[in-house]
Formats: sequence, structure tokens, C-alpha cells
Amino acid sequence: MTSTPRRDRIQRALDHLREGTTEEFASVVPFGPEQYRDPEIARRERDLVFGRVPSIVAHGSEIAAAGDVLTVRMPRNLVRVERQDDGSAQVFVEVGGRRGPALPTQERHGLVWMVDAVGVPIDVADWLGPEVDAILAGYGLEDLRAIRSEGFDEPANWKLMQDAFTDNYHIQYAHPNTAGKHVHTNVQVVEDFGRHARMLSPRKKIDRWLEEDAGDRDLGRYVIDGHFLLPNSTLLRQPDDHFELLTFRPHPSDPAWCRMEMRLLVPSVEASGLTQEKWQATWDKNWEILLAVLHQEDFPLLRSAQIGLASASAGGMLLGRNEVVNQIFHRELQGLLDV
Ligand SMILES: [Fe+2]
Repeated sequence: MTSTPRRDRIQRALDHLREGTTEEFASVVPFGPEQYRDPEIARRERDLVFGRVPSIVAHGSEIAAAGDVLTVRMPRNLVRVERQDDGSAQVFVEVGGRRGPALPTQERHGLVWMVDAVGVPIDVADWLGPEVDAILAGYGLEDLRAIRSEGFDEPANWKLMQDAFTDNYHIQYAHPNTAGKHVHTNVQVVEDFGRHARMLSPRKKIDRWLEEDAGDRDLGRYVIDGHFLLPNSTLLRQPDDHFELLTFRPHPSDPAWCRMEMRLLVPSVEASGLTQEKWQATWDKNWEILLAVLHQEDFPLLRSAQIGLASASAGGMLLGRNEVVNQIFHRELQGLLDV
């Protein structure tokens, strides 16, 4: 499909709010629990997904200067993400503090992408497809800074975590006093681009335009645009055009653990027009709120979900028709595993 202008997607969100509806997938789909605990499925995911297709390993600003190095635990390899003397980014296998073999690497839209296996071709534009490549190009992510980034090792399968950050149905239940106050639950406008998806969530402040005609007014500040980037990232465009990037990686051997990374991508001090102090304070506060919600609200639920799935007689589950982006994620992941 071609991408839909934001104005039209916002109108669709307003229609859903007026009608009490949301977007729906064709059917409910059974899933789990084996894919959250089976070591053989986990191995296939590491090899057939992360060892074959591009995924995001860093924002370019994290290795800004030649010689900068970032060490990252990928599903198949411990890697060094390096800024080379010629300005390019290159990922190597880390072998005892030194460079091992080079891994397929490409920097595009300000993000460093890699395939976690030696000798595999990489073409990020092709992987994204023309619509998503153009959408990301329009954001100027290469001009932003990763002002904060942090990784968390969590006792939950990476897909449980990825699911929680594409889903809009849990907001009022998991986050009643934080995000649930500001963002509508169970109303998403979804574009299915085949592999990847964009999902628009309306904020509650948009409600004043349910009755009143907004005319030519840009209602962009009343929505959050999410992007699910197969296989393992969610990129959130917040109303003031800063971005949050959430990435979920399988543990190298244990299906019950994963590594999550969170990055806050913001305009530089100069581009923001703020003083250095105000800029720092704004993003420090923003980051503290993100961390609090993550640790106090999302992580406890996800840990207990993983414990439940480990029970021998845990039954299967159903992906609801309203969980459209989760349906796309599981559909596409299955496609990569069915070879
Ligand atoms: Fe959440």
C-alpha cells in the first residue's frame, strides 16, 4: 500500500473515536506458548531472522567521532560498532577486546543497521521498502542526537516485549495513572506496509475536535505516530517531533530472557532554540518518566507473563482482531521462519 498523509490518518482516528471503533485484522489468530519458551524455536529466530535480515544496532550519534566504539550483545555475536576514519560505520565481531570478522553494516536515516552473520548481503532501503524508506527519510533522524540510551536485561522473551510496544490495547490497564491519562486506549490507525507498519494513536486532548470542526488546523500535536520496524524495533514520533526508539533482542541462548534498548532521539541544543540548561533539564525529565513507566508498569507485567508461559500446561492464546500491529509482527516473523 502507499502511505497515507497524516491529515487523513488523523481524520480516520477522529472517525473511530466518534464511532467507538478501531482498525481490525481479518481474524483472530492462535499463538504461543511454545514460541516463548522453546530453545529450538529461539535458535531458528536467531539464525533465520537476526542472522539474515537488517536490524538496528545504534543511532549514528552514539559513535559520532572516528574511533568511537560501542559494544553490543547481539543474538548471535558480541559486536563492536565502530566509527571508521572515513566516516562510515562498521560492525565487527568482538574477539577478546579486538576486532574480529566484519559484519554486514549500513548507516541509513541516521541509524546503524547490521545483519548478525558474516557474509550476508545488506540493503536497508530494500528491506524497508519504498514507503517506509520515504517515511523515515522525511523525519531527518540523522540530524537528531541520542541524548540518552540504556539497555535492560529482562526475564521475558523478546517477542513479549516487542508485542507490548506495538499494542495500544493495554494502555489504560497497565498505565492508568501515566500514559492512560493522555492517550486513548484501543484506537489505532494502522498502515500495513507488508513487513513494517505505522500506527497512529490519538491523545485524549484531541477530543475537543470531535464536535468542533478543525478546518485546516494541523492536529499533529494530538497524535503519536508509532512505527513497527521488522524484526525488533518500535520508533515513536512524539508530538513535538522528538523520537523514542525501542529495540528488543533475543538472549544468545535462553528464550526466557531478552535485551531491551531504549533511546531518546532529540534535536541538538542549537536546533531546539533552548538554552543548554533548559534543553538538558527537559530531556532529563522526559527520560526519568520513561524509565519510571518502564520499570514500574511494563516490566512487572511482562515478567509475570513469561512465568505464566513457562508452565507446562499453559494453554495457547489468541491475537485479537484489534491487535493489528501484533498480528503483522507475528505474521511477518512466521514468514521469515518458514523457509
Ligand atoms: Fe506499556
